[in-house]
Amino acid sequence: MRIKFIIVGLLLTMAIHANASEDKYWRILSPDEQTELEVKLEPDSLYYRLSSKGKRLLRWSKLGLALKDAPPLQANLHLTSTDISITDQSWQPVWGEHASVANHYQQLILGLQETTSPERLINYTFRVFNDGLGFRYGLPANDGQPKQLTVAEELTEFAFDRNFSAWWIPAYRDQRYEYQYLNSALSSVDVAHTPFTLEDKQAGIAVAIHEAALVDYASMTLRNQSDNQITFNADLVPWANGDKAYIRLPFNSPWRTITVAEKAVDLLNSSLVLNLNEPPAENVDISYIKPGKYMGIWWEMHIGEKDWSPGPKQGATTERAMQYIDFASQHDIDGVLVEGWNSGWEGNWWERTPTFSFTEATQGFDIEKVSQYAKDKGLRLIGHHETAAGISYYEQQMAEGFSLYQKLGVQSVKMGYVGTRLDGKEWHHGQFMVRHFAKVVKTAAANQIMINAHETIKDTGLRRTYPNLMTRESVRGMEYNGGSPDTGNLPNHTVIIPFTRGLAGPIDFTPGIFNFNYQKYRPHNRVPTTLAKQLALYVTLYSPLQMAADLPENYADHPAFAFIDAVPTDWQKSVALQGNIGEFLVTARQDKHSDRWYVGATTNEEPRVISLPLNFLEPDMTYRAIRYQDGSGAHWENNPGDYDIVEQQVRAGQSLTLDLKAGGGQAIEFIPLQ
Ligand code: NOJ
Ligand code: CA
Repeated sequence: MRIKFIIVGLLLTMAIHANASEDKYWRILSPDEQTELEVKLEPDSLYYRLSSKGKRLLRWSKLGLALKDAPPLQANLHLTSTDISITDQSWQPVWGEHASVANHYQQLILGLQETTSPERLINYTFRVFNDGLGFRYGLPANDGQPKQLTVAEELTEFAFDRNFSAWWIPAYRDQRYEYQYLNSALSSVDVAHTPFTLEDKQAGIAVAIHEAALVDYASMTLRNQSDNQITFNADLVPWANGDKAYIRLPFNSPWRTITVAEKAVDLLNSSLVLNLNEPPAENVDISYIKPGKYMGIWWEMHIGEKDWSPGPKQGATTERAMQYIDFASQHDIDGVLVEGWNSGWEGNWWERTPTFSFTEATQGFDIEKVSQYAKDKGLRLIGHHETAAGISYYEQQMAEGFSLYQKLGVQSVKMGYVGTRLDGKEWHHGQFMVRHFAKVVKTAAANQIMINAHETIKDTGLRRTYPNLMTRESVRGMEYNGGSPDTGNLPNHTVIIPFTRGLAGPIDFTPGIFNFNYQKYRPHNRVPTTLAKQLALYVTLYSPLQMAADLPENYADHPAFAFIDAVPTDWQKSVALQGNIGEFLVTARQDKHSDRWYVGATTNEEPRVISLPLNFLEPDMTYRAIRYQDGSGAHWENNPGDYDIVEQQVRAGQSLTLDLKAGGGQAIEFIPLQ
């Protein structure tokens, strides 16, 4: 099957190859001339700085690489070539938030060489977009010089212009990427994961620092150069031995990305990170790739009603799986996940060297029977590979595990890497994990299987190159509301993550909890939203695979399930309309396969009345709007289940008033009428 990848539009390239060793300063503008990159060559380093709409974002910041057993590649460089070009194209992802993505930028490539021995070569590519900047390092293969290098440090600086308000999670912590976001002055940040979101509301600036195309390198965190300052360094997550990354020439680093907008909500409308990833290989098989919804034996374990371990509370049984399949087959749900299906989950599985089998089912679960039953009912079983961070152990069984799933007709596999270090010593965000996860994605593709990964390396847009890499958790998800000893997420969490973690890519947050009353198992935990907000999350949190996370009996005969049934997972267009980080978010998306529109509106613990102009709808068309809204007495803490379903006819140009209660939300389906 050939990939549906078409480049349309204009591709304009003007290349200037100069031997202008005198040249020491360049100024490159975005196509709309609003983003301004300046680059200068000084004896000690190449520097860059960035402005948007006349406002400075970064002051002069150094670039370079430190290598092990060799001098740093930074100072004493002279120019060997300059290449400036404009690209204006659009491309069609296999699936995504948009059916078509515009990619329009001006590019500067500088070729540089050391003036002193060993006269190594380095090049820098900068792409200036209307909504930001991407740049990367390139090391060409150089005759007579080593081809395998060890990066000891990346010398990239981000010298921020002002003490922004920062939204961030700490790096180098045991819960990997699963933290409640902090909001502090930039100068109070020590070391943070990316996406790292900054704003200066008064000045009208929002910025997100991240990276694109992390293919075979360590992930970048941002470290404050000195206490209480605002200049940061790219800090690469090391291997256990301290080395940062092993590279082979010719080499291109991941792109360092700086997305820019006037308001934080507009950062959500950027495709800069995806644009900096490579298209898929020409002959990639996409026949089996299908966005959709799933359910599964999962939440009942997290709330303590069932267990992963075999025994009296065993969640994964043939009978229970068939109940899920029965419910799912009556709705628009494509797959059923069964956690604990395989042998090896006894006791505290996360605390020991793994004992899982990836081919042998646990007692009481007949995998052949269940997958056949699913097939007969027109859906699929979803696989589960929890590795408990035992990578070497898992890799011995990985190929067999995927091949069994392919035989059984399993279409997607949920991965898990619970643990504080991989193989007892490696960080989840180092090159070790990047390499392992690439193997997973490729092995899955060879078996026509889609991937949904938890606790994995952060997303940098590789879904463009590997369209079977559907979604990932890598966030503090719904599971924390189930059984976390810290009692769960705060009500503002889901109005922070779209502006931070969500800028990296799809989130398997697993929304859809309808039954808030599980305190007989977990007296201290709760889901910190209203029911209407649970529905709105299907729109505000993008994922091509979305879970309906609650138990089938909690959905049965529940009118609000109609929204989960109806909401698509693949989109023609998406637009984040209104929002403030940590306060609220309103997002609209149009179904990829129909003229229906969907809106999700969510608030933090504060009630909020929002006026929503319906400008996104087609003009001259009337729609039936089905609104799933907070009931008059709804409140996340003491009355989460109170909701109403209200219908009305609307047209573009009208406005709706959304009355969101504390911790509440609203989900709306717009169906065009003839
Ligand atoms: C952590 C995952 O995030 C969660 O979804 C899963 O249920 C457990 N690990 C067990 O694999
Ligand atoms: Ca997790």
